[in-house]
Amino acid sequence: MTKLSEIAFARPGRAPSGTLIVLAGDDLRLGAIARSLGVEDVVKRAAAAASFKGKAMTTLDILAPAGVALDRLIVVGTGKPGDLKERDWARLGGAALGTLGRGRQATAVVERPDGKKTPASAAAGFALGAQLRSYVFDKYKKPAADDGNGDRQPSSLAIWSAEPADARKAWRAGEALAAGTALARDLVNEPPNILGPVEFAARAKELSALGVEVEVLTEKEMKALGMGALLGVAQGSVRPPRLVVLRWNGGKAKDQPVAFIGKGVVFDTGGISIKPAGGMEDMKGDMGGAAAVTGLMHTLAARKAKVNAIGVLGIVENMPDGAAQRPGDIVTAMSGKTIEIINTDAEGRLVLADCLHYVEERFKPRFMVNLATLTGAITVALGSQIAGLFSNDDALSNALAAAGEETGERVWRMPMGPEYDKLMDSRFADVKNAGGRQAGSITAAQFLRRFVKDTPWAHLDIAGTALDSPQTEINRSWSSGWGVRLLDRLVADKYEG
Ligand code: BES
Ligand code: MN
Ligand code: ZN
Repeated sequence: MTKLSEIAFARPGRAPSGTLIVLAGDDLRLGAIARSLGVEDVVKRAAAAASFKGKAMTTLDILAPAGVALDRLIVVGTGKPGDLKERDWARLGGAALGTLGRGRQATAVVERPDGKKTPASAAAGFALGAQLRSYVFDKYKKPAADDGNGDRQPSSLAIWSAEPADARKAWRAGEALAAGTALARDLVNEPPNILGPVEFAARAKELSALGVEVEVLTEKEMKALGMGALLGVAQGSVRPPRLVVLRWNGGKAKDQPVAFIGKGVVFDTGGISIKPAGGMEDMKGDMGGAAAVTGLMHTLAARKAKVNAIGVLGIVENMPDGAAQRPGDIVTAMSGKTIEIINTDAEGRLVLADCLHYVEERFKPRFMVNLATLTGAITVALGSQIAGLFSNDDALSNALAAAGEETGERVWRMPMGPEYDKLMDSRFADVKNAGGRQAGSITAAQFLRRFVKDTPWAHLDIAGTALDSPQTEINRSWSSGWGVRLLDRLVADKYEG
């Protein structure tokens, strides 16, 4: 839940009372609006006293500043203004909100401190960062005793910029993005007893209020479709699986849709190939891919994106049980390929195999992007900062990389090829579900590749980026909601209008 209830955009007025937030470059220069408010001298003095150098994302908190009517002046460093990238405006907003604290009100001046033209997207980007930073998942915690700071009250922010009308317009999309990201975070943060497959599907169904068409397939329907790979994973759980199809028709009727597919393992014990106990609680987040797709579809619908988009969620629970599948089992996927189960903990790819085939056959999309917390190995390769990108298509890969640079949700393309593909050959079936110890993320991707025909396809391995996320200016949550901003941008840049 985001705790920033109100964001308003306005033209700069006379010096406000209360709290003011301004930006300063690495030379401690302030922009024209901030200077007109008469805070330059007090910033210089306080900066010298605190050794504040205006480095990017550092803050200086000045209480009861001399010579002005303010109660509090917060300075956020931009670093060298010439180095400011589009994605940095959100980080500045997050840094500002983080210093402000919860339950506060403030006016923030959003402008380049070096006098150069502030980009039109800056104020809305700043608002987005503040909104994302204010997210907390505290619904299962009793409120702490009131400390008198109104800590559990929502905050509000007035943003002053040279072009408030443009900012307000950009914020319509930004607000949708903040809400979609918060939804993705919520779904991942929810405990697994509360969010089973049926409950997840019910949450996805709520998107119909935004005009999204929602279909929910039950076990029976998946059986009829021959989804033996997905169902093999589900059979060890008393909670039945669901396949959710979300459709946002914001484009022209004849426009070929774009498609997003998410791994939605609500809890991954590993199954019969059971995981060790340490850290297993993190596997409540093994539906981070499906959560991101849900958040993305929310965003596209809420901002009325001019695109036809499909979201498909494969939602199962992976449990050990008398009815669970075993290593050695051979299952038949919807595509007709047989799969030898080597390791029941390599379950995400089984779920995705059927989802990818289903989407390609039914929707013939322009491209398919799947998101999955697929392998621990991707965190060995890339850590928690960057997601692994695997693809059969250079144009789609480049578009994803560009959207990653713009939003800060970065991806790194990993190799694929026949040398790796053959590591997934099985002695007894068409393919096996786990390779050896080496190149674990790549062999997982090669497995998925075998269930895609010729549609441009990209697989994003988000096991590192989606859960137990790095704490940044714009995220203090266990779950980052990774992928919503990236894919919203991909759609906006490449496939809308
Ligand atoms: N859900 C896990 C991957 C994962 C690990 C996600 C850590 C988030 C954090 C996945 O289903 C899995 O268990 N993968 C195995 C594959 C192996 C058995 C071939 C892995 O990564 O060890
Ligand atoms: Mn697993
Ligand atoms: Zn898993």
